[in-house]
Amino acid sequence: MSKRLYIQTVGCQMNVLDSELVAADLLRAGYELVDSPRKADTILFNTCSVRQHAEDKIYSALGRLKRIKDRHPQKIVGVLGCMAQKDRQGIFHRAPHVDLVVGPGQLGRLPALLERIAAGEGPLLEVSLDRNAGNRVSVQQSFERHDPLRIAETRPTPYQAMVRIMFGCDKFCTYCVVPSVRGPEQSRPAEEIEAEVRGLADQGCLEVTLLGQTVNSYRDDRGRKLRLADLLLRLDAVEGLRRLKFVTNHPRHVSDELLQAVRDLPKVSPYLHVPAQSGSDRILRRMKRGYTAEAYREMLCRIRETIPEVAITSDFIVGFPGETDEDFDRTIALLREGRFKNSFIFKYSPRPKTKAVELYADDVPDEVKRRRNNELLAIQNAISLRDNQPLVGRSVEILVEGPSKAGRKQPDNGHVVQLGGRTVDDRIVVFDGPPRLAGQILAVEIEKVDAFTLFGRIR
Ligand code: 5AD
Ligand code: SF4
Repeated sequence: MSKRLYIQTVGCQMNVLDSELVAADLLRAGYELVDSPRKADTILFNTCSVRQHAEDKIYSALGRLKRIKDRHPQKIVGVLGCMAQKDRQGIFHRAPHVDLVVGPGQLGRLPALLERIAAGEGPLLEVSLDRNAGNRVSVQQSFERHDPLRIAETRPTPYQAMVRIMFGCDKFCTYCVVPSVRGPEQSRPAEEIEAEVRGLADQGCLEVTLLGQTVNSYRDDRGRKLRLADLLLRLDAVEGLRRLKFVTNHPRHVSDELLQAVRDLPKVSPYLHVPAQSGSDRILRRMKRGYTAEAYREMLCRIRETIPEVAITSDFIVGFPGETDEDFDRTIALLREGRFKNSFIFKYSPRPKTKAVELYADDVPDEVKRRRNNELLAIQNAISLRDNQPLVGRSVEILVEGPSKAGRKQPDNGHVVQLGGRTVDDRIVVFDGPPRLAGQILAVEIEKVDAFTLFGRIR
């Protein structure tokens, strides 16, 4: 049997990492990667459930595959990740041509599961326990570990890598499906993370982004208690590594020790993603975020006092149930005061099995959600532009990632194309240069900026 694999990923960085690990496993099992479902024998979707829109995208992609599958029944179609864990059997009902449904806690079993399907044993469903289907330990164990050897070929670039430091989430924000589909919060042992980062640095990886749903609640409590600040100290010492980032922070766990570590450790980027979600205390309480707008503001002050050059980014949800114009005005006020480098803004999407769906009607009309979304975006874009402007005329150090989106469309004849890279505080920079500069850290002079991009040239 030929083994050509196509894998499509939607959702957060955790999913991008999961797809990379799955692809690495399958390459080792003799698969090769192809760039379209038509060329593939095995078609996998790694899915997201955080908003309805992400699920709709996958269900319509699955719908489009039906004709291909009818004509080529030997092709294997699999649904992986959060939507698999959430909808389970329901996926076979909605898309009967699917062969395989695998939750985020069973991804390590994929090579074996695909073999069983190829041998005629489908359809197969492998998911973890529901959070209320057993005691904490048995539910935790049902989210199985998957830490295969890392290989550069399946990463977006060989110089950058994500490393998971914790699984799951215990916060249960009322709108969020993550705690139910990704399971209980579990931190990986520090020495295991350190070994993985060393391995990556040995492969030539220059930048590592540590991942966790609430990355700054990381805790390794065996022996001496280690927190994220301690982990950063250990990783900062890894030879060959140049940059360390971590996402996503929860406002309640932004400790002074963590901020001091970001300030003092040379490889740790002065960049913090700390979602606020809302500026209204009433809505924050309904969301069960565990802080007030005032506490969030104080946290921002603490961050800026400790790390003056820091770039802070945030997430906001508009149209949460019961959000009035007054609540929204408070969100606008926080967005303005926050001076975020960037904010991701989402319209509230009711998610099955969450507390918000149980407790509150989705009573903000879509029209109002859209208007609030656009209003926040416009304000944030103006702030982002103002935040980038002082960089004009200055030289910034960037890690060159390779040809930019536009550069990838230009002919690659080894000559100059548009390249893209990132500053240490996660700003995107584009400039002209030869593709062989990919993977280098170099200085670029900024000539022009917009809200999202710095445009520069090599000196
Ligand atoms: N509706 C809209 N946005 C959501 N997010 C999480 N759950 C929902 C939901 N049900 C947003 C939050 C989170 C980001 C990853 O997605 O802002 O920080
Ligand atoms: Fe979802 Fe809240 Fe956990 Fe983030 S902290 S993953 S928003 S439940």
